[in-house]
Amino acid sequence: MSKLIIRGGKPLSGSVKINGAKNSAVAVIAAAILCKGTTVLENVPQISDVKILFHIMEKLGVEIKWLEEDVVSIFAGDDIETDAIYEEVSSLRASNLLLGSLLGRFGKAAVALPGGCDLGARPMDLHIKGFTRLGADAQFVDDRYIEAKVKDHLQGAVIYLDFPSVGATENIMMAAAVAEGQTIIENVAKEPEIVDLANFLNNAGAKIRGAGTDIIRIDGVKSLRGCRHGIIPDRIEAGTFLSIAAVTGSKLRLENVISAHLKPVIAKMRETGTDIRCSGSNMYVSGPEKLKAVSIQTLAHPGFPTDMQPQMMAMAALANGTSVIVENIFEKRMKAAAELNKMGADITIDGKTAVIKGVDKLHGAVVETHDLRAGAALVAAALAAEGETVVERLSLIDRGYYHIADKLTQIGGDVERIDE
Ligand code: UD1
Repeated sequence: MSKLIIRGGKPLSGSVKINGAKNSAVAVIAAAILCKGTTVLENVPQISDVKILFHIMEKLGVEIKWLEEDVVSIFAGDDIETDAIYEEVSSLRASNLLLGSLLGRFGKAAVALPGGCDLGARPMDLHIKGFTRLGADAQFVDDRYIEAKVKDHLQGAVIYLDFPSVGATENIMMAAAVAEGQTIIENVAKEPEIVDLANFLNNAGAKIRGAGTDIIRIDGVKSLRGCRHGIIPDRIEAGTFLSIAAVTGSKLRLENVISAHLKPVIAKMRETGTDIRCSGSNMYVSGPEKLKAVSIQTLAHPGFPTDMQPQMMAMAALANGTSVIVENIFEKRMKAAAELNKMGADITIDGKTAVIKGVDKLHGAVVETHDLRAGAALVAAALAAEGETVVERLSLIDRGYYHIADKLTQIGGDVERIDE
């Protein structure tokens, strides 16, 4: 089991280059299956979620070749497998995105039920509803996998999503891109990663309008062709480094950022007294001597992202005053709290609400991360804490952060990675 050993309490300084967005990359990579010919993707992060997805796709017969450190080519021929119901698939939540692309290209798909971070119930009913509305026969089989197939061809439809699910919007968008006729998806997710996927699909020949708004309209085309596309920068990795600067009172420059994607995060960070300036694709952040308490509620975009909630909790733990955080998206996403309390934080959880009474100092402890972003929060807290913290289960952090130890060392962090 790998872990990070962090000796905290030192201010950090310097520049960090933000990688391509995990959540965009996994969607666009899955969507490349829809394309005839070769797709070349740039700004792809070599994080473990991406590597696992590539491994699964290679098992299906897709050809993947890294051309540079962050550039990859993907070729899905006409005879790839459409059954992905084995172990690795269920370990990666994002593998559910293979459903939309395999169904769209080959008219059938079977994909193991997703795992990923344990954030509580993560249903797939909206995905199934969307595929069904498009004329597919889609269902759960033995509680083990989802199977979707279409007799003749997918048919455009009007689909209303009960909740603006990111994954359901992406899956339906992929399948509808090659359905016959027009599809209108209402109450869709508006995250920047949705817009990136739509841009990629349009680059490949799709006709999609409205991504980034509540309604997406898609005029189905016969087929898509491979193209070249750059993945957007990771707003959550950027937000994590903002929280690291804020909580350690450091000055950092973040490179390769789209600040418009971080509006809700920047707004709440500024309320804590953190200074953030944006200039082109750079962001300059300076943490205050003492953070102010802040209250947040997670919501679908453009609300405050659930993927930044634990990092804000780490900041609130060291703020002046009491903060309240309400988690509205995932039911089990407060697991960072117990670990932060081991470091001296004062956090009480009641259902989906956390009350965080700021303390003067955190101290080192042995802590365990339970999910990717809780891990990021523990790393931020450990960098601010006095003494040595051991963050266990680093593999969960590797799912979404590329070379985390090296990046932290480069900005002056006393961080050691141990792989056992
Ligand atoms: C994506 C992101 C994840 C982020 C989340 C919310 C990827 C790979 N992951 O996950 O990092 O935290 O969006 O921004 O992009 N829901 C249903 N029925 C469904 C689908 C979802 O009820 O069929 C509910 C879920 O239980 C949850 C909410 O919708 O409460 C949001 O889930 P969703 O937006 O689908 O998240 P993911 O796409 O899994």
